[in-house]
Amino acid sequence: MLPSLSRREFVSGAAVLVSTAGLRLPVWARAAASVPAADQVLLGVDYYPDQTPESLWEEDARRITDVGFTNVRIAEFAWALMEPSEGKFEFAWLHRAVKILSQNNIAVILGTPSAAPPPWLSAKYSDIFEVNAQGQRLYPGGRRFTCPSNATYRRLSLTIASEMARAFADSPGVVGWQIDNELTLGSSLRCYCNACQTGFQAWLRARYHDLETINRTWGTVFWSQTYTDFTQIPVPLPSGGDPNPGLALDYDRYQSYANVSFQGEQLEMLRKVCPRHFITTNNVGLLDTIDMRDLYRDLDFVAFDNYPGFFEMLLHQQSSAPVPPDAISAMSAMGHDFARGAKGGKPFMIMEEQSGKAGQRSFGPQPEKGQVRLWTYQAIAHGGMGVNYFRWDTATSGAEEYWHGMLNHDRSNSPAFGEMQQTVRELKALGPELLYSKYVAESALVFDYDCSWAVQIQPGHFSLSYMPQVQSWYGAISPSHSGIDIVGPLSDLSPYKIVFAPLAYVVSEAQAAKIRSFVQGGGVLVTGFRLGAKTDTSQMVRTPLPGLLRDVMGVTIEDYVPIYSAKQGVRFSAGLAGADASCGIWADILQPAGAEVLGAYTNGAHSGKAAVTANKFGKGKAIYIGADLDAASLARVLQSLSGSAGVRQPFNVPRGVELTVRSAGGKQWIFLLNHTSDAQTMGNSKNFTDLLTRESMTGKIHLGAYAVRILQEA
Ligand code: GLA
Ligand code: ZN
Repeated sequence: MLPSLSRREFVSGAAVLVSTAGLRLPVWARAAASVPAADQVLLGVDYYPDQTPESLWEEDARRITDVGFTNVRIAEFAWALMEPSEGKFEFAWLHRAVKILSQNNIAVILGTPSAAPPPWLSAKYSDIFEVNAQGQRLYPGGRRFTCPSNATYRRLSLTIASEMARAFADSPGVVGWQIDNELTLGSSLRCYCNACQTGFQAWLRARYHDLETINRTWGTVFWSQTYTDFTQIPVPLPSGGDPNPGLALDYDRYQSYANVSFQGEQLEMLRKVCPRHFITTNNVGLLDTIDMRDLYRDLDFVAFDNYPGFFEMLLHQQSSAPVPPDAISAMSAMGHDFARGAKGGKPFMIMEEQSGKAGQRSFGPQPEKGQVRLWTYQAIAHGGMGVNYFRWDTATSGAEEYWHGMLNHDRSNSPAFGEMQQTVRELKALGPELLYSKYVAESALVFDYDCSWAVQIQPGHFSLSYMPQVQSWYGAISPSHSGIDIVGPLSDLSPYKIVFAPLAYVVSEAQAAKIRSFVQGGGVLVTGFRLGAKTDTSQMVRTPLPGLLRDVMGVTIEDYVPIYSAKQGVRFSAGLAGADASCGIWADILQPAGAEVLGAYTNGAHSGKAAVTANKFGKGKAIYIGADLDAASLARVLQSLSGSAGVRQPFNVPRGVELTVRSAGGKQWIFLLNHTSDAQTMGNSKNFTDLLTRESMTGKIHLGAYAVRILQEA
């Protein structure tokens, strides 16, 4: 039976959590019991008792315990079993499952099931369906086909979640909640239905108060779009011409808000009914449809899903070019940094970590030996505090039969089963001190949802989009993905030596003020083309570019040039000495007004004009990279600027090896992760102990294929 683990054991962990991570885990902290530190961490698996014959539950629970797991997440797609017809609730089966799990010392995270409404609901309520950007209604039969604004869907989602909450508020073993599942991540990412139109109009009324302000702000006089009643305001569906950019940006903001407020209803209820449980949701980082900072603001911690092999398959689908191993590891690294950044650096949880071949209609690549362990450590290396693997068994029916879990279809152990078991043991031994420690970052990279949305609405060049630009800067800043925080436009920049803000197309007055004082106070800002071209209501700025930041940058944009057949290049001055760069998509032609020229254009009418500048402003420096530099030049330039700003890594690592640092209480943990299939060797001048193998190392450090080391100075 479960006298100890579950809530009470997690309660004791909360003291550590609260003090080191600042997590909000209310009552746990008060009822601290003395239990082994190893049990205070969230290391688990996503389990589907709803899809498993009850006769196997005991065996599953035993096997899950044998791995060493402390928790499972269950029930997030079990609406049809929990409410088989409207208003008729059946939780007896779930109580039995929770009881078996808790008797085996496995704590339970319950998922609210709103991502997959049952057929009776879809049949009865025909207005709940999402309408995609082409104006087509979605249909039942998959999942995530509903509208976040629809009052009926919201009411029914809240009802089932409330019934669940009441049923399990005091169940031994239940420790927390996941609300819904990957909000917005479906075949279409935003809804354009009538309920969303009405919701949008109400949201606009609250934001702008009157139509006069809306008409003026958006400039609706263009194309005769002056609104005389709120009900006339459309959503950006196909209309023979592109929508007003101000309206379109506000619509993306509304859709983000609608999903956050959909979640908010369940959150508010859960706080009341289950005050002792933690509450989170799961999402992915490289998806820009919801502002993650809003999504997680009132949740206890960030939970994310991570599928590197699935990314790899998608990259192969998109292009026949070989996929370099560090391209995949950089995507996951950035996803993890997003997760950490969404709640200001607090440790996060991976709610779903890939455990085998991940695919839907096609199988993705088989993880290589060591890779599943490596991916787990990558999450921890980037600030993770816990990991759940997806999923325990592999479904033998349904749309995800190909998505492999820890057990094969015949319930034998999967190829990576032993690795996961090993990793769980190791992480328990490393303990909460490491898992809840801080991630060390001296650099920040700005991710601004407004820029992402506004650039998607008007890319400026058909090849330009925000996420890939930010990703390429991320990969260029530190090829080892080390020590970068992903921050928002209004984040506190003072902890950083250097801040990178690529494609900062929309700049608000508040953001400009933050940047100005950061540079004034001694910070280094590196930004690029299209800086400040748009106001935060998505109008063109009426002053010379770069608009609000012209004084900080010490340049004026003389012209801006989308690049097609006329090629452009950049020659660097001594300060950034290196081979000439080619310039792919864009060239801002800079006229220095006090700034030093670090690179000039080489071709055509703009030959000799400034392309890269650095301006001393206050105690700091502001660098403008006006040209869209090729990848190698961008990496060279950004790393050179980081070095001059004083950013240092403990030692150098070869390509494909990641190095990150976490710290707590005066201790440091250095993570080394080899994402390549070759053994790697690196030199260092200190004495280290590897906490995983207890080896001590002086001089050279060897790292086998897909291997991990966690080093501490001896
Ligand atoms: C996502 C979802 C899961 C499952 C996996 C595998 O991350 O959250 O429900 O669908 O992907 O596809
Ligand atoms: Zn809708």
